[in-house]
Amino acid sequence: MKKRILFVDDEPMVLQGLQRMLRSMRAEWEMEFVESAEAALQLLDQKPFDVIISDMRMPRMNGAELLAEVMKRYPATVRLILSGYADKDLILKCVGSTHQYLAKPCDAESLKATVARASNLEDSLRNERLKTLVCQMDRLPSIPSLYMQVVEKASRFNTSVEEIGAIIGLDIGMTAQVLKLTNSAFFGLSRQFSNAAEAVAYLGLDTIKSLVLSIHAFSQFDKAETGALKIEALWSHSLQVAGLAKRISKLEGQEPKAIEEAFTAGMLHDIGKLVLAVNLPNEYTEATHLAQSGLELPLAEHKVFGANHADVGGYLIGLWGLPVPVVEAVALHHSPSRATPPIFSPLTSVHAANVLEWERPHPANGAPPPHLDDNYLRLLGVSSRLEAWRGVLAEN
Ligand SMILES: [Fe+2]
Ligand SMILES: [Fe+2]
Repeated sequence: MKKRILFVDDEPMVLQGLQRMLRSMRAEWEMEFVESAEAALQLLDQKPFDVIISDMRMPRMNGAELLAEVMKRYPATVRLILSGYADKDLILKCVGSTHQYLAKPCDAESLKATVARASNLEDSLRNERLKTLVCQMDRLPSIPSLYMQVVEKASRFNTSVEEIGAIIGLDIGMTAQVLKLTNSAFFGLSRQFSNAAEAVAYLGLDTIKSLVLSIHAFSQFDKAETGALKIEALWSHSLQVAGLAKRISKLEGQEPKAIEEAFTAGMLHDIGKLVLAVNLPNEYTEATHLAQSGLELPLAEHKVFGANHADVGGYLIGLWGLPVPVVEAVALHHSPSRATPPIFSPLTSVHAANVLEWERPHPANGAPPPHLDDNYLRLLGVSSRLEAWRGVLAEN
């Protein structure tokens, strides 16, 4: 059956542009284009839609208000915001009402891919308990404004590495942390960096962006009470998984974009643990104890919270507007078979990297380690690659 998609934007030119851009999707999608939130609600009243994609700034009722209303009336509709970076703060206010944030201008391919994958992902994020859980939390990691500035600057034609480095350099605390990490054994580089521009030039902008994102997310909760969760240990596990996921993707001949997405997703894959532990430390400790009695952690979390850390993490970074393959890798890293279509993607690398990283010696905490999804790897035809991936791990 055709997916039904509704586009809302108060600028007729934008709607016409979208219409033109998405003409090739007419066989798969039934699309409607309206110029106001009111018109969108009227249309939704007449027939259900699978996905709604709205602009943020609109007169009378803005995108956040519209999507909040849609969530209330039609919770099964996937809600996306397509908007400019300047509206980011406004967008982050609609936690719980928006599934994904897309930056304008958005090219046809990424828009198509995002809508397709987001509507598939929706099945796993549809869990009402997850939404209620996240909505109760008042301490959610925010997306750093530095990240947004870097993204914005980098999207401009002709931006030099020095300019990007200079923006990062203005944030002294962040620069210090980025350099500390870049100069550490983690990257295994033979040289030392003394400023942000050098690090950007050497590691590439995408890697630096992931570092800024994850350093910020973790450092916001440096001193927070996190029950049984050890933030230091989680950070070092995340770094290891990121590095390994990136190398697995490389080994499997993935595109540069997918390689970087695997790195980003590796860094953030367990961010849901942090969010759960910071907001609900006692319950998190309870889940940890359950896991120590033999239940795998995601199942234990599900028992306590009604959702696991992968669900929570995927949901959150979906709100940050990270690319869908990254959201998918985070959300499904313990259950990759739920991804559709089953293709080799950042999810595959992160799933494997996470399990393989646990094969290394860890301080025993009594909980069973995560396991590989053999069916998934077989379906993708990569079961025989495991030994090569373990080899990558051993090189570290
Ligand atoms: Fe995990
Ligand atoms: Fe993990």
